[in-house]
Amino acid sequence: MNNAELAKIAKAMVAKGKGILAADESTGTIQKRFDKIGVENAENNRRDYRELLFRTSDAMKNNISGVILYDETIRQKAKDGTPLVRLIEQAGAIPGIKVDAGAKPLAASNEETVTEGLDGLRERLIEYHKLGARFAKWRATYDPINGRPSYNCINANAHALARYAALCQENGIVPIVEPEVLMDGDNDIEACAAVTEWVLKETFQQLYYANVVLEGMVLKPNMVIAGLKCDRQASVGEVAERTVTVLRRCVPPSVPGIAFLSGGQSDEAATAHLNAMNAAHPQLPWALTFSYGRALQAAPQKAWSGKMENVPAAQAAFRHRAKMNGLAAVGQWKADLEKMAA
Ligand code: 13P
Repeated sequence: MNNAELAKIAKAMVAKGKGILAADESTGTIQKRFDKIGVENAENNRRDYRELLFRTSDAMKNNISGVILYDETIRQKAKDGTPLVRLIEQAGAIPGIKVDAGAKPLAASNEETVTEGLDGLRERLIEYHKLGARFAKWRATYDPINGRPSYNCINANAHALARYAALCQENGIVPIVEPEVLMDGDNDIEACAAVTEWVLKETFQQLYYANVVLEGMVLKPNMVIAGLKCDRQASVGEVAERTVTVLRRCVPPSVPGIAFLSGGQSDEAATAHLNAMNAAHPQLPWALTFSYGRALQAAPQKAWSGKMENVPAAQAAFRHRAKMNGLAAVGQWKADLEKMAA
């Protein structure tokens, strides 16, 4: 393991004005996205869709530092036979890979989950490194409603995240550590703040015990936000302030960057929140950027809708969202810029 090399990759993943494209939907998750646009979930459709994103060269070069792939995609070739990984590298971005096996029911709990996938992970990481992956992702989820999460759930997931992160670093791969407090319930923003703080404290404690080098990782947290079904939705400024407050309490300055998930926020809300944090806090110890799935892809998916002739429109939609989020990552986004494109 070479700590300087890991730190270099981690820094590049959160480079100024750039963020990560989370295109690592499992075959089951992409099915949900394709259902919405009436596209059959076939291998060639998944390839065509992802190929159009990775071939949006200016967006990739200017605003995307890395792409998180799914197992199928890291092995897939573009229509002309070029490996999709090469397209990403040619655009100047870093290929990454989702390595967790999903959130599974946590035994003897109140409908909580623990993320699985540690068995055989070392061997898989060695193979993924050969295939070109230089970073990985593992996502744990916590539901902040009905008395959840329990300490058992937080502890089990933090322990797994730490074991995963240490294995990644052993194999020259930068771990994205993703503890996600879900935002689709009816909980208020206070509940999200309290659970996020607890989860992050426990996660960093376990990372310490597991000898994870903080300079060689990227944190991917939720923002502190009211559940989407909560009656009281906080303002953009309140989300930004509460999120920065919790992160300051929990994330050591040695972590180079924090790349948020979008978690079901609208495209523009995800951009506005990130922008508000960076605009109000230009001197934070870590870079604050995006690692969005839905908030980067909903617009291009809709524009594409599975039709070849829509590829330029889909690429324009992706270029626009990547640009807006790139501006938000340096606190220079304005709502007017959205209207101009519309
Ligand atoms: P969303 O931005 O759609 O939440 O996806 C990010 C991600 O990678 C979830 O694991």
